[in-house]
Amino acid sequence: MYNRRKFIQVSAAGASLVALSKSAVAKTLTFTPASTLPIVISTWDFGIAANKEAWKVLEKGGRALDAVEAGVRVPEADMNNHTVGRAGYPDRDGHVTLDACIMDEFGNCGSVAAIEDIAHPISVARLVMEKTPHVMLVGDGATQFAVEQGFKREKLLTPESEKAWKEWLKTAKYSPVINIENKQHAPGNQYNHDTIGMLAIDAKGNISGACTTSGMAFKLHGRVGDSPIIGAGLYVDNEVGGATSTGVGEEVIRNVGSFLVVELMRHGLSPEDACKEAVNRIIKKKPETAKNIQVGFLAINKKGEYGAYAIQEGFSFAVCNADNQDLLIKGKSVY
Ligand code: GLY
Repeated sequence: MYNRRKFIQVSAAGASLVALSKSAVAKTLTFTPASTLPIVISTWDFGIAANKEAWKVLEKGGRALDAVEAGVRVPEADMNNHTVGRAGYPDRDGHVTLDACIMDEFGNCGSVAAIEDIAHPISVARLVMEKTPHVMLVGDGATQFAVEQGFKREKLLTPESEKAWKEWLKTAKYSPVINIENKQHAPGNQYNHDTIGMLAIDAKGNISGACTTSGMAFKLHGRVGDSPIIGAGLYVDNEVGGATSTGVGEEVIRNVGSFLVVELMRHGLSPEDACKEAVNRIIKKKPETAKNIQVGFLAINKKGEYGAYAIQEGFSFAVCNADNQDLLIKGKSVY
């Protein structure tokens, strides 16, 4: 698949020459690709197909919010994607529970967490934002709201996911050992490409973002990761830019990762340097844990400059604008 894609490693030309000052207002010389607007970027290789769907909205002059919702619905519907949407791996008890959030250019946001039996959590999150006075609905309440809004209630556990779960049960001992998920099915490893986070800027220069996942495979029932948490899995500030994350959500939540990235960009860092600093915060707080987990951040600023950084190598992100609709870029990493 990668051979057929334009897969580039953004060069380290002009690697960061200036360390962060204590006030975090340092200028950075890290290379940041210039871009044309509109633009949409998203996490992982499955972001290419998602971006193309978002692009259909953006190229017609549509709103970034509509683009990101349409875009992330692609991996949500993909029966071969076991980390997002309807074919997601279940939790330890065999429940497929989905997390998603969305944020627009006005700072409006909506979110659902641990929602079951609904295939497109991102669209439910949008309706939470638009039709309720709340930001977040969880569990049964989220499902109930979705059904009231006309979403079809359906069984999401696919035969493939059920088989994988039953295999896992044979050796898992059903024990809540910390990081037991971080073996074969660690978010972000080769088996588990984890969350899609998407950021778009439309022709009017407005920014929106969306983030959706089935979360950590075989998690404890009721576990919620970073993806539906505004500020952790996603954050947008229309004056500054947007950021989203992928990987082990617990570490992203602990560091309010996406909000941190946007704030660092506000203080002058490039998207890549802001992502790098957020990754380094995670490593600094838990160096031993960080050696064995993946977290990646992806960010875009108001000018359409984008960048990413991850703890481990293997992270990639997709970029789509008028010049190129299927660009896949290898993310830089600490290890
Ligand atoms: N980043 C997805 C999760 O931790 O659930």
